[in-house]
Amino acid sequence: MKTLIQNGYVLDPESKREGKFDVLIEDNKIIKVAEQITDHADKVLDASGCYVMPGFIDLHVHLRDPGLEYKETLETGGKAAARGGVTTICAMPNTKPVVDNGEKVADVHSRAKTDSPVHVIQIGAITIGQQGQELADIEGMAKAGCHAISEDGKSVMNASLYRKAMKLAKDNGISIFAHCEDITMVEGGVMHADEKAQALGLKGITNAVEDVIVARDILLAKETGVRLHLCHCSTEDSVKLVEAAKKEGLPVTAEVCPHHFAMTTDDITEDHGNWKMNPPLRGKEDVEAMIYGLKNDIIDIIATDHAPHSEEEKNKSMAQAVFGIVGIETSATLTYTELVDKGILTPMQMAEKMSYNPAKVLGLTDKGSVSEGMIADIVIFDPNKEYAIDVNSFFSKGKNTPFHGYKVTGKVVGTICNGNIVFEA
Ligand code: DOR
Ligand code: ZN
Ligand code: ZN
Repeated sequence: MKTLIQNGYVLDPESKREGKFDVLIEDNKIIKVAEQITDHADKVLDASGCYVMPGFIDLHVHLRDPGLEYKETLETGGKAAARGGVTTICAMPNTKPVVDNGEKVADVHSRAKTDSPVHVIQIGAITIGQQGQELADIEGMAKAGCHAISEDGKSVMNASLYRKAMKLAKDNGISIFAHCEDITMVEGGVMHADEKAQALGLKGITNAVEDVIVARDILLAKETGVRLHLCHCSTEDSVKLVEAAKKEGLPVTAEVCPHHFAMTTDDITEDHGNWKMNPPLRGKEDVEAMIYGLKNDIIDIIATDHAPHSEEEKNKSMAQAVFGIVGIETSATLTYTELVDKGILTPMQMAEKMSYNPAKVLGLTDKGSVSEGMIADIVIFDPNKEYAIDVNSFFSKGKNTPFHGYKVTGKVVGTICNGNIVFEA
């Protein structure tokens, strides 16, 4: 089976090649990238006026499967990913039960093969049940194909236990994905600690709640030598700390979520659960730091922290609602609208931060590039489509986002995963 993508503008972050090229796919591989391909193909896709990028790799997704399928499943999350141009998702382990051993990882991987149209990589927990007491089966999970372990949803507060986990992760060739939040400092906060929180009469989460753990984790990565990936960075000081870590040559990468570069607390229109996520929307200086970090490659990766919840869990005040917003169907368009269209990132940097750099973090050598021999994971992105985000169109079960009605530019119009067309607008 051969598929030909014609007339698109190819962005390949690996070779830094960009320009008008055709791309030929046979079965699940890219077999040719050339100015004009005239080979016979079973299916021809016209990508005129569109970017042809390597399929996005989202390092931070909550699929809620097993156990919380009323929020999302491998199937609905996978379909939502395909619509967002995401061809590989890393699923966080805070499911029910928590994914904390090799068998549970193998179970998700085998079900994902039939249920999800895109690749799923399960991330393992750091401690059993994410209880912070005893280390999870790190070796077993690494053997089952976990590329990273994470306690996402919380931090491992016991630094000694965490350091043991880091050593084991390093010995098993996997990374730590860190959720940075000093739980003892949250004190019931539900949004960023600023005047807006005061005006709404809500308890605040200060920047230091994040920063002290970012600093601790960098120091522990330095001592253990583990590859550390910092999830959902949201503060000015976390950018400064990552910049310093990189200057020192430490194996540290950082991600930002679209909501943390697209919005500040000024955008919060009402005390509603759709504005509640962890870490919270921050202030203007923080958002400026995120943009500085992205532009200067201090922040390597854009990931979503796609966190679907039910209407019942979110349609209430911030004090009552659970933390988290969906993002997998809107990340590409928000990145294009807020960063590329405004001239902050080049289209090539978008491909780097959404695909190539995440592939590197995961150690995937056959993804993140539109070039011969790579797995045929490709997104076709039309930068000229303008529309308003509509939660009613989402494939995800979660409709919980503050971006409903938000005007955007740029749309995923086609997604190919493993050589199969998994989404066509
Ligand atoms: O907002 C969040 N939601 N942050 C997290 O760390 C966890 C996530 C969830 O699982 O809903
Ligand atoms: Zn988190
Ligand atoms: Zn998360």
